[in-house]
Amino acid sequence: MYFLVLVVAIRLLRSVAREVVGEEKAREVWSRIDIIGDIAIIKKPLRTSLSLEDYRRIGAKLLERVKYVKSVWLAASPVEGEYRVRRELIHLAGDKRTVTVYREHGCSFLVDISKVFVTPRLGFEHYRVAKLVRPGEVIVNMFAGAGIFSIVIARIARPSKVYSIDINREAVELMKRNVEINSVKDVVVPIHGDAAEVVSRRLSGIADRVLMPLPVLAISYLGHALESLKDRGALHVYLHISYGKGEDPRDKASGIVLNEVERLGYSVENIQARVVRPVGPRTVQVVVDAGVLRC
Ligand SMILES: C[S@@+](CC[C@H](N)C(=O)[O-])C[C@H]1O[C@@H](n2cnc3c(N)ncnc32)[C@H](O)[C@@H]1O
Repeated sequence: MYFLVLVVAIRLLRSVAREVVGEEKAREVWSRIDIIGDIAIIKKPLRTSLSLEDYRRIGAKLLERVKYVKSVWLAASPVEGEYRVRRELIHLAGDKRTVTVYREHGCSFLVDISKVFVTPRLGFEHYRVAKLVRPGEVIVNMFAGAGIFSIVIARIARPSKVYSIDINREAVELMKRNVEINSVKDVVVPIHGDAAEVVSRRLSGIADRVLMPLPVLAISYLGHALESLKDRGALHVYLHISYGKGEDPRDKASGIVLNEVERLGYSVENIQARVVRPVGPRTVQVVVDAGVLRC
């Protein structure tokens, strides 16, 4: 569903940009749009010949054309820092607000695009993992953000608990609101803190499944994910993989996880990888699903 919305949004952005700045410059804007709730975010490339005024005109036209978009922002910096947020957001058109309600798989999420990581591009992944969850599972989501992944799982599957940790206090406050909005208070447990500390303090040896949706920390926190698992369990490890000609990023990602899991004293019972999305030139986000057993 989101894929369709994205394709429509890209087409619209393309035709609006063509009209406003002409064919040549419009190429810089193509496919650089996310729609989150009623907010459109246009991502600025590192190098661009478009001025802020060009972007403002594109934003105003977009607002005119797409009735469900009420606010348009330019993301002038990438997702960065510990909290994985866009620090430089420039208002282009419409309502000057960063808070919206984002909908995914029948759930509603209150999000603030300036304070918490959110991308509709993970929508399919949330659903895919939710479909793997068996009734009664205990899940630990080490990097839960506003709770989107955890809540989709709680609504689609029947886990007994989804412990959902985030180090960003504002993300956890939004997660608490989202847990209430989606009536999953008995299942999703928001926890503020560093995932490594939280696991050691209170979530050791309890999980059937651990999610690690933060590529920059996934490998260094793998030991903590294993600490959180029961003797046997499932891991979902998200990595950013750069690959050369003839290399398969999925094999590369599986190799990294396999080596690390074995080095930490576990055996791998099954392993598979899939490309989640492109994140740069010859770089993709890959998820590795691994069934592991303590040796
Ligand atoms: C990529 S986002 C999570 C996205 C979310 N799972 C989703 O699908 O919408 C990663 C999150 O990890 C959090 N984070 C970063 N370092 C952390 C740590 N040491 N412990 C717990 N959370 C951390 C960030 O605040 C951020 O919200």
